[in-house]
Amino acid sequence: MRIPPSLKCHLLRTQPLLLPLLRANRSLSAARSELRWLTEHFRGRPHFSRRLAAACLARAHYAVPLQYILGSQPFGCGLDIRCRRGVLIPRWETEEWGIRLARHVRQAHEFFSGNEDSSSTSTFTVLDICTGSGCVALLMAQELVAVPGKTVAVSAFDVSPTAIALAKENLVRNAAHLPPSSSVCFKIADLFQYHIPMHTIADLVVANPPYISLEHYTSRAHTARSVRVHEPKLALVGGVEFYTAIFDIAWRAGAGAIVSELADEEQFLDICDALLDVYDNKFICGAMRDTAGNVRTIVAYRADRPEWAHMRDLFDVS
Ligand SMILES: C[S@@+](CC[C@H](N)C(=O)[O-])C[C@H]1O[C@@H](n2cnc3c(N)ncnc32)[C@H](O)[C@@H]1O
Repeated sequence: MRIPPSLKCHLLRTQPLLLPLLRANRSLSAARSELRWLTEHFRGRPHFSRRLAAACLARAHYAVPLQYILGSQPFGCGLDIRCRRGVLIPRWETEEWGIRLARHVRQAHEFFSGNEDSSSTSTFTVLDICTGSGCVALLMAQELVAVPGKTVAVSAFDVSPTAIALAKENLVRNAAHLPPSSSVCFKIADLFQYHIPMHTIADLVVANPPYISLEHYTSRAHTARSVRVHEPKLALVGGVEFYTAIFDIAWRAGAGAIVSELADEEQFLDICDALLDVYDNKFICGAMRDTAGNVRTIVAYRADRPEWAHMRDLFDVS
């Protein structure tokens, strides 16, 4: 942000720490909020002033993400996701589609109202692929509240041991926010060599794979410096091959529906093209937009599963 000289002089006299934060933020009000959070974070700790000043300078000069300094990011309704270097920071776009999806499924699926055929299974299973900090898995466990006698089981995996260690910490940290009828487990696995355990059935597959092209990753116009320098490339750079692998796992696990985050409308069309070769007429695909109006997720359901046809209500683009 371009800082007018009069504002600069005023801040230097009154609140000098706002000045570096103003460089790291788009507005004075955002910089003020950040200073308040940082002050609260360091209050009562040894060397308070020195640490607060160092954090403000790290924001301005090294573009260190705020969440890595504060150590966490709120997510969903009261989840507090621990954030640490080496693992992607949860984004608002992911939180948004996660909440929209879970609330839709809860309303549309008879499992959650107790009306379904009593002979059907009593566990609703979710598979979260590329779980990272575990934010989506925990959100699903939180939002998909089962009726008495029914349970929700979320299993999640990621290729990164650092991510899975953090996801396990997040499970413990957020245990109080999860309904007793839900269970969550995390494991290390590579999406491209994923062996589905015998008899595994997933009702719903969710994923937020790496989806930024190498070209966009290296371009300043597309990927912010703070993301490129501080967040793991493994979590960011990827393409269509991740989606065909996700659909393959979902197909083998017998999933009724798949929702996966993506970059934009162009990528959505590329993915649909790639899927057509293998899954022509097997899945019905559409896309959800985020509140900024961008195509943000591919939504798909099995053409031979009428009980999942309600997923069409989530299509903003079809
Ligand atoms: C965009 S991040 C998503 C993290 C988290 N789900 C979220 O929404 O914040 C993508 C994740 O995919 C993981 N990943 C990358 N390649 C993978 C692979 N071959 N198999 C499984 N996970 C992979 C990364 O470690 C990273 O945690």
